[in-house]
Amino acid sequence: MIRDLGSDLRVLAAMARGGNRGGDAKDRLDAFYRPQAVDYDRFRERLLNGRAELIARLSPGPGEYWAEIGAGTARNLEYLGSRRASLARIDVVDLCKPLLAQAYRRCRDWQNVHVIRADARRYSPAAPLDGMWFSYSLSMMDHHEAVLENASRMLKPGGRIGVVDFFVSSRNPAPGRARHGPLTRHLWPRWFRHDGVRLSPELPDRLLELFPNARLDEQFASLPYLPAPKVPYFIFTATTRNPV
Ligand SMILES: C[S@@+](CC[C@H](N)C(=O)[O-])C[C@H]1O[C@@H](n2cnc3c(N)ncnc32)[C@H](O)[C@@H]1O
Repeated sequence: MIRDLGSDLRVLAAMARGGNRGGDAKDRLDAFYRPQAVDYDRFRERLLNGRAELIARLSPGPGEYWAEIGAGTARNLEYLGSRRASLARIDVVDLCKPLLAQAYRRCRDWQNVHVIRADARRYSPAAPLDGMWFSYSLSMMDHHEAVLENASRMLKPGGRIGVVDFFVSSRNPAPGRARHGPLTRHLWPRWFRHDGVRLSPELPDRLLELFPNARLDEQFASLPYLPAPKVPYFIFTATTRNPV
C-alpha cells in the first residue's frame, strides 16, 4: 500500500514538473520519463483507457507483421495475450530511452519482438506492415501530420491502423460526432499541455480524412485521483484501401 503510494507520488511529481522543458524531442522525452519509467505501467493502467479494446478490435493475426509507434514500455503487447507469439514480427518503436529500457526488459525473451529507438517520422519497417497502432502517442508527437504520412506509406494495401488517444471536440462538430462543452474544451488541452500532450479536435478529423474506411468511437474516462470531470478519448480503427 505504502509502496504503491510512493510509486504514484513519483509519477505525479514528474507530471507536476511537466514535459515541456527545452531541448529536442528526444531530450524532452528522456527528461520527462526518466524519473517515472519504473512506475510508468502501474500508473498508466488507470490513466490510459481503451488500449485493450483497441488491440482486440485490430485483431493482429498469425504470421502478420505489426508495429506499435510510440510504444513506451511495450506494455500493450501483453494485451495480445497468446496471439503475440503467433505474429511473424512486431516492432516496438519509441524515441525515449528510459521507457525503451523497460521495453527491452519486458521483451527480451520474445524472439519476434524488435525494440527500436527511432523517431516516428523516420521509422521504416523491414517490410510493408499488416498493421500498426498508436496508443496515446500521436498527441505527444511534435509533427503528427508527418508521422501519419510516414505511417500510411508503411502499410500494405488492406493493412489496419488503430489509434487510441485523448482529444476534445471542436465547438461545432460534424453531425454524429461528440460535442464537448466549453469547460471540457478549455480545461483538458491546458491541463495536458503541461506534460507535452496536445489535445485537439484535429487528430480524429485528420484520421478520418486519411483513412475513410474507419470506425471511430468517442468516449469519456476518469483520471487517477480525479473522478470528475472526465476526460474524452477516442478509439479509431481503419483499413487502408486495396488497389482497385
Ligand atoms: C503516453 S506515452 C504512451 C506509451 C504507450 N503507447 C502506452 O500506451 O503506454 C507516449 C509515448 O510516445 C513516445 N513518443 C513521443 N514522441 C515520439 C516520437 N517523435 N517518436 C517516437 N516516439 C515518440 C514517448 O516517448 C512515449 O513513450
